[in-house]
Amino acid sequence: MQNQKYLNNKHFSKTMHNNIKLIAGSSNPSLAAEIAQHLHVPLTKVKVSNFIDGETYVKIEENMREADVFVIQSTCYPVNENLMQLLIMVDALRRASAKRITAVIPYYGYARQDRKATSREPITAKLVANLLVAAGVNRVLTVDLHADQIQGFFDIPLDHLRAQPVIVDYLKQKKLNDFVVVAPDEGRVKENFDLAEKLHLPLVIIAKQRSKKHLDTFEMIKILGEVKDKHVIMIDDQIQTGGTLYNAVKILKENGAKEIHLACTHPIFAGPATERMSDPAITEVIVTNTIPLRAEIPNVIMISIAPLLGEAIRRIHEGESVSSLFE
Ligand code: R5P
Repeated sequence: MQNQKYLNNKHFSKTMHNNIKLIAGSSNPSLAAEIAQHLHVPLTKVKVSNFIDGETYVKIEENMREADVFVIQSTCYPVNENLMQLLIMVDALRRASAKRITAVIPYYGYARQDRKATSREPITAKLVANLLVAAGVNRVLTVDLHADQIQGFFDIPLDHLRAQPVIVDYLKQKKLNDFVVVAPDEGRVKENFDLAEKLHLPLVIIAKQRSKKHLDTFEMIKILGEVKDKHVIMIDDQIQTGGTLYNAVKILKENGAKEIHLACTHPIFAGPATERMSDPAITEVIVTNTIPLRAEIPNVIMISIAPLLGEAIRRIHEGESVSSLFE
């Protein structure tokens, strides 16, 4: 599904157009193709293969001298493979005398480990930032980082796009009578509060207290607000196992909620997520295409963020404001 808002982008000025190069990693070819189509810029030919022992081989098949290069690669499943491929592509581009290399990372993996929660743990979100810069990345364009502070892990420019406006545009096409927005727990109040404000809907919060003995069970659950006979929308930055939203769905159903609409930016969909998200209690799961889906799920609605990313790339290339995209 295309989001109309960003479709009327200006075309590149002729002088600049020649100098831009788009390169697709293998994580999300359909998103890269859509971005290329949106920008009317062909994808650069790149050969990617594996040596017999599994090492990655990359060859850029076109001249990159003085080019403004955008490498599109989500560091989603298979995470290590996609990350390493991105690093190797950037190394090849730097050695081929590209003028500027922007890593377009619609989904920035390894982001959950953004601090030491206990002793002797790594901070992988920072490690990945260091690796990207060491490889030769000059700037980053990404969408809905798991934690805003990851922006500060980079000492190079980083543009952080939000997918929420694209999801809001989709939801606004519905008649939202008798809808409420629900935060599935205290940690997700902020984004659900923002959503409720944009849709002019009340916010309901599910407050939980974990058991001291069994950390995966809850001693007390309170719903702050009314969900009986209401339709519900819940948003999260990502669905990994689906556990966070699925547990909330069960609580809401027990408390008399009617339709339940879920939304997230990054459909990681690992482990039991596909089964959970297919539950008939869930009317639809609205996701963006930062990550390609690995399985067909009938109630999943995928909204494309290619126009948003394409427009951001155009603005970066032409030195225009990216933040004004959201005004
Ligand atoms: C947590 O901080 C995130 O915002 C998501 O709620 C979480 O990653 C979702 O994971 P899962 O789908 O496994 O509950």
